[in-house]
Amino acid sequence: MAFIPEDKLLEIKDAASIEEVVGQYVKLTQKGRNLSGLCPFHSETKPSFTVAPEKGIFHCFGCGVGGNVFSFLMHYHRLSFPEAVQELARRYGIPVSLKDLGPEGARQAKKRTTAYEANAAAAGFYAATLASSEGKPGREYLTKRGLTPEIIRAFQLGYAPDAWDTLARHFQHRGIPLDLAQDVGLLAPRDRGGFYDRFRNRIIFPIFDRQSRVIAFGGRSIGDGEPKYLNSPESLLYSKGRTLYGLPQAAAALRATGVALVVEGYLDLIALQVHGIGNVLATLGTALTREQVRLLKALAEKVVLVYDGDAAGAQAMKRAFPLFAQENLAVRALPLPAGMDPDSYAQAHGAELFRAAWDEAQPWFSYLLEDLIATHGLDIEGRVAVLSELRPFVQALTDPVEQDLWLRNTSERLGVDAAALRKSLTSLAPISAARLDPRTNLAVSLEKAVIRWVLGHPEAITLEELEEWAEEFENLELKGLLDLFIRSYREHGRLDHGLLVQQAAGEIQRQHICALTLEEDESDGPAGDFLAADWRRDLRVKHLKKARARLKARLKNASDDEEVPLQVQWREIDQQLKDLSAL
Ligand code: GTP
Ligand code: MN
Repeated sequence: MAFIPEDKLLEIKDAASIEEVVGQYVKLTQKGRNLSGLCPFHSETKPSFTVAPEKGIFHCFGCGVGGNVFSFLMHYHRLSFPEAVQELARRYGIPVSLKDLGPEGARQAKKRTTAYEANAAAAGFYAATLASSEGKPGREYLTKRGLTPEIIRAFQLGYAPDAWDTLARHFQHRGIPLDLAQDVGLLAPRDRGGFYDRFRNRIIFPIFDRQSRVIAFGGRSIGDGEPKYLNSPESLLYSKGRTLYGLPQAAAALRATGVALVVEGYLDLIALQVHGIGNVLATLGTALTREQVRLLKALAEKVVLVYDGDAAGAQAMKRAFPLFAQENLAVRALPLPAGMDPDSYAQAHGAELFRAAWDEAQPWFSYLLEDLIATHGLDIEGRVAVLSELRPFVQALTDPVEQDLWLRNTSERLGVDAAALRKSLTSLAPISAARLDPRTNLAVSLEKAVIRWVLGHPEAITLEELEEWAEEFENLELKGLLDLFIRSYREHGRLDHGLLVQQAAGEIQRQHICALTLEEDESDGPAGDFLAADWRRDLRVKHLKKARARLKARLKNASDDEEVPLQVQWREIDQQLKDLSAL
């Protein structure tokens, strides 16, 4: 069995908190310190399945099954231990190399612990500085921004003084290894040796993980220091794409409401907290990632995006929608008036809007549609542009019922025939200028027919033929399917639907395989078969002719004993071409 260093196990287990993982399969409700739900391993009507997040374990009082996050996946998906570990590592984007063994593991684990300690010490230092006489500029700034002492405490806000090495000296004094402080981005090396503080004259926002450990910092400049926000770099403790700001502070309100508001800025989040809106999380100055959406999925049933009321905010929301659709997490958009962010809106109008955020917000698809209509207009060119931009979003709707409802809605809004719209937006080919060229369009439906034909006649196909076709395919998605067929054929010597589905590169490809296998496409059913057969024949002829041309060239310079075998090949090719009636 593969040995995985404990440090890795911990890293994976930390990234994948048990309530988050279990929560993806079981609806959990808070019960004291723990969570409970209906056991997924036996049938019951009263919840006896319990998760203890602080202990990182689960247990069912009904059937007795229990364990940690790894055992849960092992039971649930019938995986071996290394498989479960690797599965979690994969889901959370943590690289696991099986070679990476030995005492190194222990050293790393120690390093992690010390790194957490360094961060905790820094947070304590900055908070103390904010409260001290040195922290006056920080306190004044925060008061001006409307923060209360309670909020400052709840978020452990701090102040980094306007000096070069106060934290470095503090760490030296406390015996905290400075090189490690450099690793987590608190200190930076000086050219002439030694270290200086990364954060100077900034308000400090410690970033916590779900276990309330400090994993990184954000620092807002309050002088003329650039940039406005300086954040910790990625480190052994911190990956910004896998966390959200405000996790521990939002936990209770998220459980109580089931709705998560997602904002862009530290101070947007804190401003809402000042106004008593607790169920808020913030992205950390980057586009929302799939891992963050999964994290949200474990924390809430519904998500409302409340981004800045400007073009960048709208763009950022639009980029996030497909992720929510693919992860099947309900999301709405709450657009703010132009030029406002959640902070300035709450200061100006109070927080009522955010209290009823889900009801006030718009379903993401209609938000998107209206945004596109506002951009492109409703004349014919505008509607074509709207539809072509809409396409990837329609395809991201994994629930066919939902997709159908939005397609109807779109067809009404744009005044386009519903059936035509469906055909145009849900077919495999990407809309492009080339699509308007009837020849390309034909090529796509032809390639699609060929793929469908292969899936319908897997026993009739040879590897050689598949390989020849791969050179001809133009549509990237369909070419991807063909490449998968080839890989599968090479590995298993045949094509098998179950295997293909297993080997598919992701859900979309899997769905395409299933759809193309099962699809009863009236428009080109048997006709499609004929098309595919013709295409197959034409390609075969083309390749044979190419081979013959190559042979001809070789025959010119062939020595005597080479000539005969080449002539034999020539005759064989001619025979095959005759069989295909191409001679
Ligand atoms: P205030 O201006 O203090 O109200 O902050 P804000 O949150 O309104 O700022 P803004 O809308 O400009 O940015 C939103 C978020 O993006 C911030 O909270 C940061 O997380 C991030 N961000 C903004 N500016 C910078 C920057 O210069 N560098 C980095 N790394 N992140 C930034
Ligand atoms: Mn702001």
